Amino acid sequence: MFPRTRLRRLRSTPALRSLVAENRMSPADFIAPLFIIEGEDKREEIAFMPDCYRFTLDVLAEEVQILYALGIRSVLLFAKIADDLKDKTGTEALNPDGLIQRAIQTVRRAQPEMLVMTDVALDPYSIYGHDGIVVDQRIVNDKSVAVLAEMALSHARAGAHVVAPSDMMDGRVAAIRKILEEKGFVDTAIMSYSAKYASSFYGPFRHALVSTPGFGDKKTYQMDSANAVEALREARLDIDEGADIVMVKPGLSYLDILFRLKQALEVPLAVYQVSGEYSMLKAAAQRGWIDERAAVMESLIGFKRAGATVIATYFAKRAAQWL
Ligand code: PBG
Repeated sequence: MFPRTRLRRLRSTPALRSLVAENRMSPADFIAPLFIIEGEDKREEIAFMPDCYRFTLDVLAEEVQILYALGIRSVLLFAKIADDLKDKTGTEALNPDGLIQRAIQTVRRAQPEMLVMTDVALDPYSIYGHDGIVVDQRIVNDKSVAVLAEMALSHARAGAHVVAPSDMMDGRVAAIRKILEEKGFVDTAIMSYSAKYASSFYGPFRHALVSTPGFGDKKTYQMDSANAVEALREARLDIDEGADIVMVKPGLSYLDILFRLKQALEVPLAVYQVSGEYSMLKAAAQRGWIDERAAVMESLIGFKRAGATVIATYFAKRAAQWL
């Protein structure tokens, strides 16, 4: 008798489809990236990222409570630094009263159960817009690592639960782990941007923070999109150096990387659906070319299917509402 098997049978009703769904999402899977600015009572929409805002600290406190009520348990903070505070070595990154340090404290106070994550890289603080220290137009590794470790420590001191180095310098996870241990921050987790590609999809983010590189690009430290095996080497090194969670970034163009890392490694995997991915979906949705909710949820479940445990996305709040 033919057909013996009808795969359509289990697709025939919403209840059956939901019963056999291999992956599910919950708001607790998401990390909500948040942009912070100085000032009071302001919520500035980011031109290239509709429905995404830069918040002053007072508004941040409210936003974090709203996110928590929606089931979101992690936020990743990014500060927009004033031009006159930027210099060649990113000194402001280490200011104990800097904007990011105050933002960490604000979130901790507003919602003590919320996990506070911070980005560790010098680009928002550097007049060059590069993630490390620049000497003669080159991004020098070891000097950068020393500053990045201090920066991570400064975030831990301010109350960050998780520091997320996004700079792609060699050896930075080891340096950060060492300084955290030495200073007694033994429970501060490291979520390493391990497989971070030199991607054109970061454009809207750099617009949001006014952190576009002043010269050149980031190809001498971020990964080449042509490579996959190298992502495994990066991730293994970071785990050896003390990373607790490893990340793949961007998301949609790199699902194969996520899948490979999932097969090979025994650590929680994060993916970052970056600004350009957000903007593309938003732009198409605003024109009525795609259905926003359906397209966003499809992209997010794709990350889970590929192996992500944790999803950083600018859609976190919307998706939590939809769920
Ligand atoms: C900083 C950093 C960037 C992103 C996260 N951390 C930009 C970059 O590396 O140029 C990109 C995030 C996004 O595009 O959403 N190093």
